[in-house]
Amino acid sequence: MTSDTPRKGRFITLEGGEGAGKTTQINRLKDALTKRGFDVLTTREPGGSEGAEQIRHLLVNGDVARWDSMTETLLHYAARRDHVEKVIRPALEQGTWVISDRFADSTMAYQGYGHGLDLTVINGIYKLVLGEFSTDLTVILDLDTEEGLKRANSRAEGEDRYERMDIEFHQKLRQGFLEIARTSPQRCAVIDASSDADTVFNALWDVISNRLSEV
Ligand SMILES: Nc1ncnc2c1ncn2[C@@H]1O[C@H](COP(=O)(O)OP(=O)(O)OP(=O)(O)O)[C@@H](O)[C@H]1O
Ligand SMILES: [Mg+2]
Repeated sequence: MTSDTPRKGRFITLEGGEGAGKTTQINRLKDALTKRGFDVLTTREPGGSEGAEQIRHLLVNGDVARWDSMTETLLHYAARRDHVEKVIRPALEQGTWVISDRFADSTMAYQGYGHGLDLTVINGIYKLVLGEFSTDLTVILDLDTEEGLKRANSRAEGEDRYERMDIEFHQKLRQGFLEIARTSPQRCAVIDASSDADTVFNALWDVISNRLSEV
């Protein structure tokens, strides 16, 4: 089972659809927190540890329909378990602040709201794999689906299995993220990601400094 050592660092995740600006904002957030004297580790999902990056390869490449939603969920959670136990939890215990580009809410949005796997089943898998482990703060970058896909396509760097799923799927997962935020308002905040990157960052920084007392 997972250890319950008290953690000293904070665990922040950024969520949202393809091209919403997660990676852009995480880099800015890392710089801002580092300037304030925090020890910061940025990481990503799927992946973030050696084993999880190998599983990532199976998830972000290849045929759109290669996995059914349950298999896909289990692959994400196998990767997530490795990522949490090998990278995230040890860093938090040392006092490092960890910022992850996607985490468990992406599985709920993509495989649950997007692909229709029962949400209670996904919550059950979460509990089984991670127990009480949770984010301190999850920021959801909300952006018009087509605009996000346009931004993401302009990068064209491969690993595009999810980007290639149809527009209805992407619309469902946008609504899914908003629903997650409505049901977990203490843990989540939604930011309008449609403005320029500086404006989005100002909104992100407001949330970080309002919600996390150390900042
Ligand atoms: N606020 C913004 N306005 C316009 N373009 C942006 C903005 N933020 C990021 N971009 C650009 O949009 C593209 C996607 O941004 P980014 O990679 O940060 O998104 P992402 O959410 O990490 O995407 P993915 O889910 O595909 O990893 C990049 O080319 C980035 O430079
Ligand atoms: Mg990204």
